[in-house]
Amino acid sequence: MAYNVIFCFSGTGNCLDIAKNIAKELGDTDIIMMKKNNENLDVRYAHRVGFVVPCHGGGLPLGLESVVRQITVNPTAYTFGVVSYCGYKGNALKQISKHVPLCYWNSVVHQSACIWLMPHTVMVPPMSPEAAQLHSEKMAKAIAADVLAGKRMKKESPALNVLNAVENAGWPMIAKAKLKEFKVSDECIGCGLCARLCPQENIRIEDGKPQWGPSCMQCLRCLQYCPKNAISCGNITKNREQWRNPNVSADELTESLIHIE
Ligand SMILES: Cc1cc2nc3c(=O)[nH]c(=O)nc-3n(C[C@H](O)[C@H](O)[C@H](O)COP(=O)(O)O)c2cc1C
Repeated sequence: MAYNVIFCFSGTGNCLDIAKNIAKELGDTDIIMMKKNNENLDVRYAHRVGFVVPCHGGGLPLGLESVVRQITVNPTAYTFGVVSYCGYKGNALKQISKHVPLCYWNSVVHQSACIWLMPHTVMVPPMSPEAAQLHSEKMAKAIAADVLAGKRMKKESPALNVLNAVENAGWPMIAKAKLKEFKVSDECIGCGLCARLCPQENIRIEDGKPQWGPSCMQCLRCLQYCPKNAISCGNITKNREQWRNPNVSADELTESLIHIE
């Protein structure tokens, strides 16, 4: 059983890349990929427990708060949280801290995975894709150093951003509306990668084409990883470049647990 555990959710690889880079510095780490039907949620054996998650609609990706609620952590464990975002941090870490109090937290700006909203190159502050990746790697090292030093925040929990909380309250409705806009073109070869990648098991392949069920969390893996760029959401995504973190493979995203020695 690993000394460190990091719970990670990652749609397009940014968070998994950050989690792997932190884990390489910490050593002996189990990265547990958060998804529907997680099995490994009792981590009382771990001395350090971390979270690396993206900001979605101002908060935690849909459905993840109920996963966090089921996690059991040793009360003496050192806990930390990291949120990745492209414009603002939102309340994901606040939501986690309601269920697993955090000793330390930080944030990492990276490229936007929200392809129906904007191109992946839009970030605040503005920077090139190469600079964003370098920044993310540097931040992961700095965060790992803080974790190894046992750094603790002065505040009891991350601050609540009221505007982001309002946005997040409307997020399930927006996500539902966007789901209706998913479509697949004739370029689809029925490879099934979209179904394999879906963390909600929400995609079925019928007559060689994907069909989406109702429980989409808008991670957009299906669209971003389609090898034929055959999946779109609305009319705008077809004209935008797909985004996938270059250091993370599609296969890694389907893993339940990744161990870093
Ligand atoms: C559906 C969706 C909603 C998002 N909402 C926000 C947001 O509210 N604020 C923000 O700054 N970034 C937002 N993002 C951008 C992601 O937080 C950012 O790209 C993150 O690095 C993605 O990590 P991942 O590749 O591990 O999924 C959103 C991305 C997606 C896919």
